[in-house]
Amino acid sequence: MKEIFTKQFNVFVGAGSLTQLSELLIEKSYSKVFVLVDNHTKKHCLPLLKPFLAQFDLIEIKSGEIYKNTETLKDIWQKLQDCKADRSSLLINLGGGVICDMGGFAAATFKRGIDFIHVPTTLLAMVDASIGGKLGIDFNGIKNEIGLFKHPSLIVVEPVFLKTLPLEELKSGFAELIKHGLVADKKLWNMLQDLKEINPNVIHKLILQSIKIKVKIVSKDPNEKGIRKSLNFGHTIGHAIESASILNGKKVILHGQAVALGMFAESWISHQLKYLSQKEFYQIESFLKQHFDMQISGLDAHSLIDLMAHDKKNEAGKIQFSLIHKIGSPKLKINCDHELIFKALNTCFNIT
Ligand SMILES: NC(=O)c1ccc[n+]([C@@H]2O[C@H](COP(=O)([O-])OP(=O)(O)OC[C@H]3O[C@@H](n4cnc5c(N)ncnc54)[C@H](O)[C@@H]3O)[C@@H](O)[C@H]2O)c1
Ligand SMILES: [Zn+2]
Repeated sequence: MKEIFTKQFNVFVGAGSLTQLSELLIEKSYSKVFVLVDNHTKKHCLPLLKPFLAQFDLIEIKSGEIYKNTETLKDIWQKLQDCKADRSSLLINLGGGVICDMGGFAAATFKRGIDFIHVPTTLLAMVDASIGGKLGIDFNGIKNEIGLFKHPSLIVVEPVFLKTLPLEELKSGFAELIKHGLVADKKLWNMLQDLKEINPNVIHKLILQSIKIKVKIVSKDPNEKGIRKSLNFGHTIGHAIESASILNGKKVILHGQAVALGMFAESWISHQLKYLSQKEFYQIESFLKQHFDMQISGLDAHSLIDLMAHDKKNEAGKIQFSLIHKIGSPKLKINCDHELIFKALNTCFNIT
């Protein structure tokens, strides 16, 4: 087990880290402990967590991005109120990014804020969503439209949970690992190139490295004024693809899958703007194509661009990107005109 302590939050990573959770519970003597799960984490993850808890109340919601909304949030608040949660209660978020984002938001707002702990159970939540204090829900089909910043009291990353995670979810988290390599760490990128296949046993080793990158970046720039923007690489186009798939009500494209598509198109833009060399662009393209399905169907470029116009990162009405200027090095705050974005979507995904 490894510990990463910062001024604002602590993370325990590795086998055995759940004992840190029991120790904190004994130390803090919370008035009540709540555990938020979805139907999958109730089945697969709760049995592994239970031995580390004394008494708790369970709050269960349905799994999936489509439930990361005001109705589910209301259900969580309702349950906290019904079970008489007070300001000394604790909420443990046991699940993926949806549970961490929404549970954290519910806890941070209930009675002006109760303590919460993230126990991420997807690769995506382990290396990304649980770290950095961003909490929120989707609203009117716009991803993470309502939210706030607050760090959990503790983050416990126990990779054993990955054993039951479906492969497509593991791949979704893998996209964020790739992103960390592309924006900040050429060494991590090289380690990823050596992977023959994606499975929990090999991913294991990369988790700590990836978390370290995220921790370093968010600690330097907690409020996303500078370097933290680099973590949005792939997300301007990625979020639009993810939101569009939620809005059109067909099969929802997983966050990481959408980010992989976004990283491809945004690498293309980085190359067009002469930041990224052709050699590195081809390297990224071929690596992404090796691990992800790079086709989009049923979405059109103009509605994707409309969705990008809602992005929180935009300033003065321009669509703003976090790009890369070589592998391992970001290029921040680049405003792109609609024509270039259209060309990227058209060239990369053959959509109009
Ligand atoms: N706050 C942040 O900084 C941040 C960063 C990145 C992503 N996010 C958010 O994270 C969300 C995506 O997270 P996600 O990919 O973890 O999705 P998710 O929470 O929906 O989990 C994916 C699926 O895996 C299931 N699951 C979770 N753990 C499991 C396990 N151990 N075994 C079996 N099944 C399991 C879940 O029930 C769900 O069906 C998005 O809403 C995204 O916006 C937030
Ligand atoms: Zn992401």
